[in-house]
Amino acid sequence: MLLGTQRVNAQGHLEIGGCDTTRLAAEFGTPLYVMDEALIRGNCRAYRAAFEARYPRNTICYAGKAFLTTAMCRIVEEEGLNLDVASLGELYTALQAGFPPARINLHGNNKTRDELEMAVQNRIGHVVVDSLHEIGLLAAVTREMDAEIDVLVRCTPGVDPHTHRFISTGQADTKFGLNIQDGSALEGVRRILATPRLRFHGVHCHVGSQLLDSEAHEGAVAVMVDLMLRIHRETGAVCEVLNIGGGLGVRYRSHHRPPTFDEFAQAITAGLQERIRRAGLPLPVLQQEPGRALVGEAGTTLYTVGVIKTVPILDEPGWRTYVAVDGGMSDNPRPQLYDAVYEVIVANRAAEPHDQLVTIAGRHCETDVLIWDAHAAAMEPGDILAVQTTGAYNFAMASNYNRFLRPAVVLVCDGQADIIVERETLEDVVRRDRVPARLQRQLAMQG
Ligand code: LLP
Repeated sequence: MLLGTQRVNAQGHLEIGGCDTTRLAAEFGTPLYVMDEALIRGNCRAYRAAFEARYPRNTICYAGKAFLTTAMCRIVEEEGLNLDVASLGELYTALQAGFPPARINLHGNNKTRDELEMAVQNRIGHVVVDSLHEIGLLAAVTREMDAEIDVLVRCTPGVDPHTHRFISTGQADTKFGLNIQDGSALEGVRRILATPRLRFHGVHCHVGSQLLDSEAHEGAVAVMVDLMLRIHRETGAVCEVLNIGGGLGVRYRSHHRPPTFDEFAQAITAGLQERIRRAGLPLPVLQQEPGRALVGEAGTTLYTVGVIKTVPILDEPGWRTYVAVDGGMSDNPRPQLYDAVYEVIVANRAAEPHDQLVTIAGRHCETDVLIWDAHAAAMEPGDILAVQTTGAYNFAMASNYNRFLRPAVVLVCDGQADIIVERETLEDVVRRDRVPARLQRQLAMQG
């Protein structure tokens, strides 16, 4: 499986964005996140184009939670997408990058006053209200700042998306959004309409993530259009925006077949137009928040192979070969959290047959297996291992567990490689540590 600009060059090495990955590893060190700029931009354009060809009013907001840095904000802005942020840190990153505030939506099921203040102060596009409590808080913030803000109401359409339960969010039993069935969503709309400075703009839902068909989204559209009709009948308000969140899946393994952007757009827009027509409502702006679909396949993590160990096991084939790499759960917690699966290419042996069954392990003080059964070329210590489809939620969820240094991120394009996030340093590791005075005295006495 070769993704985006990945190819095998004349030396038999894996290349991404015209850069030999073994050279990237040598120049920038490993573990290293490599992001394929052409694929990110191509995905942004193709996703937009698929919807623009079928539906007249679209806003595609990139979900920054998947992968956000200041350079990424520049790319998103240049590609004409809006941005969805889910925290003070993500909002700050976008503002630091000079991203136009009017094109930002703010999410969060328990937004802080700081987040709402930063949002209102910078006049961002929408605050996506997630609870009745938040309406009161936002009312207070806008009153104190004497500023207005556009809001969407996040609702739970109650559809089951058939994905890992930790990334299912649209069902009724969830911490997110306002329940439609019990009347909370409508009550939220009523309160917003009755609150000066809050401008009701429409409704939002997000059903789940890494979805490999469009069924749940289609179901959500049906429920949301019904809700829009009820809102109109009972309050007179028209939803200018229908935001259906993100969630379209990507290929982690070669047998994964997510819908293409065109197939997805066809399924969503056909149902939406038909239902809106039947409801007799004006066509809303269709907002979406794809994250993984735009960046997942554009990321590859490079590791250096270290210890290789074969151990006897009870199951067939009677042995298991562990290939330990120089990263693990600190740069990719997804296998442990979501049973995530991946494919690999041995970057310096990319042309050799990948017919060995191995287990790729990390080097944390945990059983941090990255891939239980990977097909790879025969490896030796010092080889460079490329794990594919690590562009979404890997850098974003990286930690310092075991006081590991978080890897650098390099953006590759047309043979050029630029660092967009520096590797952490040992100084960074202790930068925020403080030793209370009483412990300093003890240290001095011992010395
Ligand atoms: N909009 C909202 C409101 C969301 O909650 C999410 C993801 C998205 C958009 C983007 O979803 P995407 O298009 O990327 O599927 N850490 C997990 C994924 C958590 C997703 C949370 N919400 C993982 O590594 O799989």
